[in-house]
Amino acid sequence: MTQPATAVLDAFTRAKGFMPTDEGLALYAAATDATTRLGLPLLEVGTYCGRSTLLLADAARAAGTVAITVDHHRGSEEQQPGWEYHDPDVVDPEVGRMDTLPTFRRTLHAAGLEDHVIAAVGRSPQVAAVWGKPLALVFIDGGHTDEHAAADYEGWAPHVAPDGLLVIHDVFPDPADGGQAPYRIYRRALASGAFTEVSATRSLRVLRRTGTNPPA
Ligand SMILES: C[S@@+](CC[C@H](N)C(=O)[O-])C[C@H]1O[C@@H](n2cnc3c(N)ncnc32)[C@H](O)[C@@H]1O
Repeated sequence: MTQPATAVLDAFTRAKGFMPTDEGLALYAAATDATTRLGLPLLEVGTYCGRSTLLLADAARAAGTVAITVDHHRGSEEQQPGWEYHDPDVVDPEVGRMDTLPTFRRTLHAAGLEDHVIAAVGRSPQVAAVWGKPLALVFIDGGHTDEHAAADYEGWAPHVAPDGLLVIHDVFPDPADGGQAPYRIYRRALASGAFTEVSATRSLRVLRRTGTNPPA
């Protein structure tokens, strides 16, 4: 499997975030494959502190393209104070709300990858609504409620180029393992006839846009 540069893998391991290394390597391989074949940019929904972004940035750098990463940087529901994934270190004390943007920028800077990433700070459906370019790969790792996951799928799946890849994180067929919203959009993508599964690495699913149907 294609591997990221050692320094990037080290930076990934040190970065705050939620992606295990085996899933990160699968994401990197998918990103490298898609952007090399198609010569188009990569896009991520759900930047957080830039852990997975590092891998997309390294793949984009190698292919001479760019990685776009979308986040409002105010955190998902489960990252708010009092919830399981809250980190008090990423709260802006002046505003009193989460702000992961400064940590994200430090992560990218330390890895020397700033020039290969465009950060879109905003709500995913609003960014998707004004987006106008086909993408080699869309990685969905944003809000994990049905409302947010469905909006991410509906907003971004149509922008995946023919033969491009749709990657979905936190797909848990068994509800005992995790929330079901990402699993539901994964099932929806397959049922649309527009995507075919390529690989599964733990909860990371890689689908290829193979059908002539528009994603539904
Ligand atoms: C699970 S984290 C992303 C983890 C990251 N990919 C990593 O590898 O560490 C989800 C992120 O999605 C963002 N998010 C949730 N809903 C969003 C929305 N509707 N628009 C933009 N960002 C959103 C949150 O702010 C949070 O930073």
